[in-house]
Amino acid sequence: MALSVLILAAGQGTRMRSRLPKVLQPLAGQPLLAHVIDTAKSLDADDICVVYGHGGDAVRARFEEAPLRWALQAEQLGTGHAVQQAMPDTPDNNQVLVLAGDVPLLTVGTLQSLIEGSAPDQLSVLTVDMDDPTGYGRIVRDGDSVTSIVEQKDATEDQLQIREINTGVMLASAANMKRWLGELRNDNAQGEYYLTDIVAMAVKDGIRVSGIKAQDEDEVMGINDKKQLAEAERALQKKRVEALMEQGVGFADPARVDIRGTLTCGTDVFIDVNAVIEGDVHLGDNTVVESNNLIRDSRLGANTVVHSNCHIEGAVTGNGCEIGPFARLRPGATLADEVKVGNYVEIKKSTIANGSKVNHLTYIGDTEIGSNVNVGAGTITCNYDGANKHKTVIGDGAFIGSGVELVAPVTVGTGANIGAGTTLTKSAPDEQLTVGRARQVTIKGWKRPTKDK
Ligand code: UD1
Ligand code: CA
Repeated sequence: MALSVLILAAGQGTRMRSRLPKVLQPLAGQPLLAHVIDTAKSLDADDICVVYGHGGDAVRARFEEAPLRWALQAEQLGTGHAVQQAMPDTPDNNQVLVLAGDVPLLTVGTLQSLIEGSAPDQLSVLTVDMDDPTGYGRIVRDGDSVTSIVEQKDATEDQLQIREINTGVMLASAANMKRWLGELRNDNAQGEYYLTDIVAMAVKDGIRVSGIKAQDEDEVMGINDKKQLAEAERALQKKRVEALMEQGVGFADPARVDIRGTLTCGTDVFIDVNAVIEGDVHLGDNTVVESNNLIRDSRLGANTVVHSNCHIEGAVTGNGCEIGPFARLRPGATLADEVKVGNYVEIKKSTIANGSKVNHLTYIGDTEIGSNVNVGAGTITCNYDGANKHKTVIGDGAFIGSGVELVAPVTVGTGANIGAGTTLTKSAPDEQLTVGRARQVTIKGWKRPTKDK
């Protein structure tokens, strides 16, 4: 049976107290809605429709590439009204799975068991038992079947004691959905058209409503405010770190690491506290990431040590490299094996071959460095003339003294030596010492200036 997934994402999210629409608030670096869309895509759905409204253009713009159907809810009159906006283009004999854009941690497995456990002509509601059900709609039951859902604001004292809550996820045929939605009224505490009222309508129609319980209360957490957003962030991070620990990755403290993308690791990788991983990152066998590191979209080879306080983005390293402390690898930094990049060194769009060292206070940009090169402290490749970028090439085995300026385009030959303090503006030949600096003079009898009395 064909499946349409509807994602409700039109609400403003007043409780966030933010200019950013609620469904664009970031969780593990991705908008809440992105998590829900990803989950929906993993289901075998024929159609994924997002109901949008508040902050509409920004929300649509964020997901331009994804093939989605969009239904506008111009005025946010409630969750039932929101579903209604998507129904005209939903074929009657499709099954409709309603998801909320603010329930981002739901797993595909839970949704699949909801779908598998439901007959096409019934209404199914995903529920969960919560220790603290405050704020959620309560599930009212008569034995096995659900008879209604009462919102917190409409509930009686007795109903408020119920700990089984509505996760906001529902499944029914489009035909039934359309019929019930047409009968919704907004005579409740919030003056809204509640999707949850279709439960009582189904019961009236003699249609069985099954409440299927999710196992994990974190998974169905609804995010309405910054506190819940932070709780969801921790819950998601915990899950990600636990999965990595199961694969053998070591963490000094699983609670002090943030994975805002995909991290894959070889064996015996160890990650110290306060690592932030973004985008796609791979760490090779035996790699150690010391404290306070940001690593984004990078691939580090085996036996690499990233010392404390580095910022690494778009970099690729071979095996046995040593990076930091306090190093910055920018996009296009490509290190071969056994390369050392030390403190206060910035590398951009440059390749460094085996065994070379750039250990202190240096900027290397648009450069090709050969193997076994030593770059002295305080060296700068002057790659930018104010309009264009130029290339520096340093041959194998070259030795660059301290405080050298390499004014690109420029080439340093194989085995060349460049004297400390040189401003190199012409190419330096192989194997020779090249020095370019003002001759040192001593001025006899020179006096220090003194203050006027
Ligand atoms: C809703 C449920 C509640 C459930 C809870 C689970 C209703 C009436 N209540 O309450 O039973 O326990 O979710 O998290 O359904 N939205 C629209 N258009 C609107 C209103 C809301 O698209 O007019 C969207 C929101 O953007 C959000 C979702 O629907 O993604 C849920 O809306 P929200 O206002 O957060 O509902 P809750 O009060 O949390
Ligand atoms: Ca909510």
